[in-house]
Amino acid sequence: MARRIVITSGKGGVGKTTLCASLGQMLAKNGNKVVLLDVDIGLNNLDVVTGIDNRIIFDIVDVIEGKCRPKQALVQDINTPTLFILPSAHTYNVGKVNTKDIISIVNYLSQNFDYILIDCPAGIDLGFQRAVFCANEALIVTTPHISAIRDANKVASILSNFQMTNISLVINRVRQDFVQSNEMLNPFDIAETLKLPISGIIPESDDISISSSINGSLENVHDESQMAFLKLASNVHNGKFLNNDNKQGFFQKIKNNLIKRK
Ligand SMILES: Nc1ncnc2c1ncn2[C@@H]1O[C@H](COP(=O)(O)OP(=O)(O)OP(=O)(O)O)[C@@H](O)[C@H]1O
Ligand SMILES: [Mg+2]
Repeated sequence: MARRIVITSGKGGVGKTTLCASLGQMLAKNGNKVVLLDVDIGLNNLDVVTGIDNRIIFDIVDVIEGKCRPKQALVQDINTPTLFILPSAHTYNVGKVNTKDIISIVNYLSQNFDYILIDCPAGIDLGFQRAVFCANEALIVTTPHISAIRDANKVASILSNFQMTNISLVINRVRQDFVQSNEMLNPFDIAETLKLPISGIIPESDDISISSSINGSLENVHDESQMAFLKLASNVHNGKFLNNDNKQGFFQKIKNNLIKRK
């Protein structure tokens, strides 16, 4: 049975889709069978970020409408054969989608995969509920900015009403130079405020920024963010978290690289 992890945030644009694609890739490269499920229907981007957008034949709405089986809608990643993406609908067909339909797709896929990563839409309304109902674990993504942290807090409190076996934080777009000069909140202080463990800290990355501007795909990201995603994947896989003892060591490794802009 697959682990079903929803990647959520409340606030939009904090890096859920980026994280879903990168984490999926790392888990798959480590030999796991992974499917990325895009339930951000209508505003979906996972296909672009994973570079499969021109290879989609069927999408999740086609599966729901019985036009194809879930297996037929899966698109295999070119570089990582154990990574698959179940794309969302191109057109805004959200009215045709209900939670039960998605849950039955997830149940079906569960039998053949190790991980199902669910890319959740922003907000806390129907799209969010739909994504969360399919999962039994959650990664809450926030940036070190007050509005994102407030939304993460709101999401954490909603998730506490769900039967999640594991809820943890990923803090994205961290600038260690700002953290050190006290111009950005320290990720470990954020975690303490939110009363959640940290699974990963992802630095602000020029490669991610540039890639998303040029062709949208994460294919050409090779900087320190990759190391951070690798660490995140290892933590998720082994059920481990970062703690204050890791603070120095972790930051020391990425320090020299993540700070300086060209
Ligand atoms: N660590 C990072 N460094 C630099 N840019 C990043 C980083 N993480 C994400 N981004 C950029 O931030 C933008 C938003 O990321 P993304 O689409 O993954 O967010 P999202 O939470 O899925 O958004 P939405 O709520 O709209 O679905 C993208 O342009 C992405 O390339
Ligand atoms: Mg997204």
